[in-house]
Amino acid sequence: MNTIAKKYNIAIFASGTGSNFINIYNNICNGNINAQIKLLISNNPNCRAIEFADKNKINYKIINNFRFKDNQIDNVMLGALSNYEIDLIVLAGYMKKISKKVIEFYNGKILNIHPALLPKFGGKGFYGMKIHESVIKSKEKITGVTVHVVDHDYDTGNIIYQKEISVLKSDTASSLSQRVLELEHRVYPEVIRNFLETI
Ligand code: GRF
Repeated sequence: MNTIAKKYNIAIFASGTGSNFINIYNNICNGNINAQIKLLISNNPNCRAIEFADKNKINYKIINNFRFKDNQIDNVMLGALSNYEIDLIVLAGYMKKISKKVIEFYNGKILNIHPALLPKFGGKGFYGMKIHESVIKSKEKITGVTVHVVDHDYDTGNIIYQKEISVLKSDTASSLSQRVLELEHRVYPEVIRNFLETI
């Protein structure tokens, strides 16, 4: 008897250039991840992720303090997500902290990628280029990427995947960020695919 594999419903949260979001979308389109992106959530209406979603007819919702009062944000977010049976939330460069209420609702089903080897270079204040500048300044010989389940604090959730790369003598923060981002694009779709099989 033929069984049809379940297509997982995912939501992606992104705030910036959205290269991971676009890469995940492409991996879904070419069949590497058996899922559909039901919703993109962003706090930033002007980011490339939103522009891409708009062009590619991906549902999106902009949730920020200009559009909603602080005490409405959780319910607006949960309301938007509840329109779809979301199996997994994927953070891909989302610059806002996820609230306790949302984390509890999607307990263990929110992943984040961080461009360093946590627990080093993680936590409040470690984002974007600051991370790579600190890695260079600390004369680290290796760096890499970490994928973790999101919990109540920044970058502290259960680590499910790490991959190292060498820091080259010639590296600047900028060249390092480029190489780490390329690594993210190689590994995040694979980690998402494997994680979906476990839920
Ligand atoms: C990535 O380096 C990711 O690890 C971090 O934010 C960055 C997002 O990049 N959480 P992009 O928006 O996907 O290009």
